[in-house]
Amino acid sequence: MQGNRGILCVGLACVDFVNVVNEYPKEDSDQRGSDYYWQRGGNASNNCTVLSLLSVPCEFVGVLGSQGAEARWIANDFATCGINISHSVVKDVLCPVATIILNVGTGTRTILFYPRDRPELSYAEFHDIFKDDFSSFSWTHFELCSNVSEISSMLDDVIRYNNSLKNDDVVVDDKVFISVEIEKPEFSGYDSVMTKADLLFVSKDYAKSQGFTDASCAVNKLSSLCKPNAVVVCAWGDEGAAASYKGQTLTSAALRGVKVIDSLGAGDTFVAGFMSVLWREQYLHKYTLTDCRLIIQQALDFACKLAGLKCSMFGYKGLKDYC
Ligand code: FRU
Repeated sequence: MQGNRGILCVGLACVDFVNVVNEYPKEDSDQRGSDYYWQRGGNASNNCTVLSLLSVPCEFVGVLGSQGAEARWIANDFATCGINISHSVVKDVLCPVATIILNVGTGTRTILFYPRDRPELSYAEFHDIFKDDFSSFSWTHFELCSNVSEISSMLDDVIRYNNSLKNDDVVVDDKVFISVEIEKPEFSGYDSVMTKADLLFVSKDYAKSQGFTDASCAVNKLSSLCKPNAVVVCAWGDEGAAASYKGQTLTSAALRGVKVIDSLGAGDTFVAGFMSVLWREQYLHKYTLTDCRLIIQQALDFACKLAGLKCSMFGYKGLKDYC
C-alpha cells in the first residue's frame, strides 16, 4: 500500500548560517544583529525536516561532504531529526553553506549561497545505490539543482521500475509516485523532466522567469508540457497557490494575519505540506476524478496554511504543535 512506505527526497543539504536583524544592515557598518544560529538547509533536506515533523516517513539522498565542522553538523542534525540518510554518498568535499539574513522588520529573507565543492548526486551514483529497486518507497521526490540531465536519467530508472511492475502478479499499488520541484530560473533543460513527473512543483521565481504573472496562469500553461494526468502546483507567496489537474485549476488563499518573521524555507514547507496530504490520503489509489480533485484541494489548503504558519516562527520545529 502506498501509505505504508516512505518518501525518498533527492537533492541538496547545506548549512544555513542564519542572522536575524531588525533592520537590513547598512553596507560598511558595524552593528549588532538580534540572533544567530545554524540550521540545516537545502530544499530536499528541508522537505524531509517538515515531512518528519508531520510524521511522514522519509529519507534524504544526496552528496554529503566529510570536510569541516559543517559536514559533521549536517549529519548530526539529520540524526537528531530522525531522518534516514543511509543511502547518501559521503565524499571528501566541502558541503554547501549559505549566509541568511532574516529581516524581522520587513519579513524578507536574503540568501547568499556558496556551493563550494558543489556536491550534487550523479546518475551513476544514484543507479549504483538503488540498482533499479525502489520497492521500499511509495514516492520519490527530486529537487532540480544544476544536474538536470542527471536527474532526468534518475527519473528514467524509477519509470523503468514502475513499468516492470506491469504484470499480473503485482498489484499497481506498488508503483512509485514521482514528484519534481523546479525552483531555480537560472538552470535549463527542464522540459525533459516535466514530462516524467506525476506531480510538478514550480516556484514563483521560475514561473515569473517564464513570463507568468500569477499562479493559476502558470499551472495552466505549464501543464501542457507535462503528462496528461500530472498535477502541477505553484505557490505565489501571500497571493496563495494554484494547482492544475486534468484541465481544471484549483486555488487556495494564503494564510491571513501572519506576522512574517522567517520565510526561509517557506516554499519547501509548502511542498512538504502538499506531499504529506497526498501521501496520507493515498492519492494513487483514488481512481475517480472527483476524489483526486478533493485531495488536491485539501493538499493545497493545508500547504498554504503550513507555509503561512512557518513564516510566523523561526525555523521549522514549532510546526509540530500545529499538526
Ligand atoms: C531554502 C533553501 C535554504 C538554502 C537555499 C538553497 O529554500 O533551501 O535552506 O540555503 O534555499 O538554495
